[in-house]
Amino acid sequence: MNCLRTTAARALRPRTIAPLTTARYANGASTSHFDDTSEYKSPFASPEPRTTTKIPDFSKYRGGSTSGNKLFGYFMVGTMGALSAAGAKATIQDFLVNMSASADVLAMAKVEVNLSAIPEGKNVIIKWRGKPVFIRHRTPDEIEEANAVKVESLRDPQTDAERVKQPEWLVMVGVCTHLGCVPVGEAGDYGGWFCPCHGSHYDISGRVRRGPAPLNLEIPEYDFPEEGKLIIG
Ligand code: FES
Repeated sequence: MNCLRTTAARALRPRTIAPLTTARYANGASTSHFDDTSEYKSPFASPEPRTTTKIPDFSKYRGGSTSGNKLFGYFMVGTMGALSAAGAKATIQDFLVNMSASADVLAMAKVEVNLSAIPEGKNVIIKWRGKPVFIRHRTPDEIEEANAVKVESLRDPQTDAERVKQPEWLVMVGVCTHLGCVPVGEAGDYGGWFCPCHGSHYDISGRVRRGPAPLNLEIPEYDFPEEGKLIIG
């Protein structure tokens, strides 16, 4: 019986595990930690300090001087920049060449006309960039008539000299400036062209004289590179 009592008393006795210290702060909070005096000794610890973070020696890979390194850096940056610029230029150039008009399209952009085949007082219609172009070989009387018109009285004031490069040759885009019909030659009240769509009259210089058209017939870009030859475009 005594033996049982002794055993029970041992079990109920409080055990002392490790000494604790309590730190108390100014705001009243407190914390406990193990005493610094307790020490754990690892059975694997080496008595000597271990040098596991040994830094390799890169000295043989390093350049001789700082200025030499900088020079090499500048050279590489400059070379790469030049190569990149050349590549970008070639790419953009290829792109632009690809976008530009092809040779057959450029050939269609200009039309050459043999003027010796057009007798005086006659009209010829040619196709240029999908539009009709009127070429009129005017007589001296027609030129005089075109110059006799009072410019101030015109809806779209233009002298005849402003509309021709050589007085005997009148070159115009044959598209009515009202709604785009093709006027009829040698017709109308002014001896020039007449647009039957809505009744616009143009004179022998292609200037609008009556009807709803707001502007004179358009003059395209053209040139006479040599005698008897006309290039439109
Ligand atoms: S389109 Fe020529 S008058 Fe209307």
